[in-house]
Amino acid sequence: MDYQLNLDWQAFLQNHWQKRPLLIKQGFHQFIDPLSPDELAGLAMENEIDSRLVSQKNGRWDVSHGPFETYDHLGEKDWSLLVQAVNHWHLPSSALMKPFRVLSDWRMDDLMVSFSVSGGGVGPHLDQYDVFIIQGQGRRRWRVGGKIPMKQHCPHPDLLQVDPFEAIIDEEMMPGDVLYIPPGFPHEGYAIEDSLNYSVGFRAPNARELFSGFADYILANELGSHRYSDPDLAFRDNPAQINANELNALRSMMRELLEQPETFHHWFGEFISQSRHELDLAPPEPPYESDEIYELLKQGEELNRLSGLRVLRIGDQCFVNGELIETPHIHAADALCHYDKVSAEHFGDAIDDVRFISLLTALVNSGYWYFND
Ligand code: SIN
Ligand code: CO
Repeated sequence: MDYQLNLDWQAFLQNHWQKRPLLIKQGFHQFIDPLSPDELAGLAMENEIDSRLVSQKNGRWDVSHGPFETYDHLGEKDWSLLVQAVNHWHLPSSALMKPFRVLSDWRMDDLMVSFSVSGGGVGPHLDQYDVFIIQGQGRRRWRVGGKIPMKQHCPHPDLLQVDPFEAIIDEEMMPGDVLYIPPGFPHEGYAIEDSLNYSVGFRAPNARELFSGFADYILANELGSHRYSDPDLAFRDNPAQINANELNALRSMMRELLEQPETFHHWFGEFISQSRHELDLAPPEPPYESDEIYELLKQGEELNRLSGLRVLRIGDQCFVNGELIETPHIHAADALCHYDKVSAEHFGDAIDDVRFISLLTALVNSGYWYFND
């Protein structure tokens, strides 16, 4: 299923992205849910899948975490089941993320899906990330407030909420309606009836994560061995004093590492191409031999990219799930980055290079790409 979003992206980027919320009525015409509440409930029973149930009774909030064995204890009102990274586990759902690729793959995170019965929701809260909330089956009332400093509190250890807020958007969303919410705008959704919501979430690193990731990279690659030295050391009045020129020299040692474009690109590509959620990896058993891969491609078989796998490009370098894929065949690598299905035509001449085929073989044997059975 192909989902087409009715949205003027230029105007959206100019007026809304990271600036203000937007309700896109019937963003998806005649919307058809890619999964059913039963399928979602089934996913939340799986070990590898991150899920939670949020409920409310007489103003008391409760949260429990999956995997769930049963849903028998749940009443008819005031609860919501939320499942993370559904696009990793349920291929048809991943199609819902595609229209948002125009905003760039590296900023995109996962698809969270929630099922709520009447009254169900997670309460008023803020998110740190941009999100597009798509209304699937059922109706749900969504309210969004202005971005003003708000105190957060925990009505339950696993639930961060804000106080009631005045709405700048207050809408009963219908199937196919889409709500964009930038970071920091308080919002809350309450189901009016059994209701599915799909949240296409984005990610943005903070400086702490960048420094920590970069430090890991320096350690792993044994960079920065160059040690502080001071052949011009002079007497100082106060032996306890660290001089400004010394601090500058130390800072430039650190900055020098950051400022090598090659190091920075390699590190960032590895860093940002890692998924924040588990992948549904199933490496083929037995592994493929290179000539089998070659034959299958020659026969016109397509390779499918594992759903949720992050494949990103910096310059001519291509990064897959935290690893640099080295090949001189830039067009072929670009096809791997761009399309979720690739075949011999995309690879051009590269297909006759044994090194390229052995690269593909490694990717297939890692479970990153797969042939249809
Ligand atoms: C939900 O679907 O209930 C939660 C989405 C959100 O508020 O981020
Ligand atoms: Co939210």
